[in-house]
Amino acid sequence: MNPVIETVWVAIWLMLPAYITNASAAFFGGKTPIDRGVLWRKNRLLGNGKTYEGLLTGFSCGFCAGIFQQLLGYIKMPSFGPFPSFLLTLFCLSAGAMLGDLLGSFIKRRAGLKRGAPLPLVDQLDFVGGAWLLLFLFAREWFIDTFSAEIIITVVIITPLLHLLTNYIGFKMGRKGVPW
Ligand code: CTP
Ligand code: MG
Repeated sequence: MNPVIETVWVAIWLMLPAYITNASAAFFGGKTPIDRGVLWRKNRLLGNGKTYEGLLTGFSCGFCAGIFQQLLGYIKMPSFGPFPSFLLTLFCLSAGAMLGDLLGSFIKRRAGLKRGAPLPLVDQLDFVGGAWLLLFLFAREWFIDTFSAEIIITVVIITPLLHLLTNYIGFKMGRKGVPW
């Protein structure tokens, strides 16, 4: 396989549990705001776009997708680690994605941006940052062994592109109010 295509493919494979977490939260959405309407300095703490239902469906879908990927061990793709530590890796990828997304919204509200207002790079990469933070804290060995500089750079480049594409699809499906 062409080495560039292979790197992109591996990067997508490794980040897929985080991607699916983020996409499922948006797809299923929810009603119960995590911040319960609380304000901080006249702005919502997180806003109505961050719900408990989104958090739980996002985490569950991403985690299950990762288990499924791990079971496909016979196809030559990098693994999330040996049993049982791959469970921790997958937890970091999906819970970290949700955490990063919450932090992104927290930052946006502090900047006075309303729910859904665009904040380039934060919107597209907050969940990646959250996933990498938890991996670095709790699955460091696997993270450092698996995520080469090449893979990290690839993820930073392709994630915003994939994010824009999926958000556009979500917008067209009527699941998202704005196409970003
Ligand atoms: N979502 C949710 N719960 C979460 C995360 C996301 O219900 N924990 C759903 C919401 O319906 C949200 C949608 O997924 O509107 C898209 O997520 P995102 O783009 O991160 O939220 P925005 O609505 O753009 O809000 P923000 O400005 O806070 O990013
Ligand atoms: Mg967001």
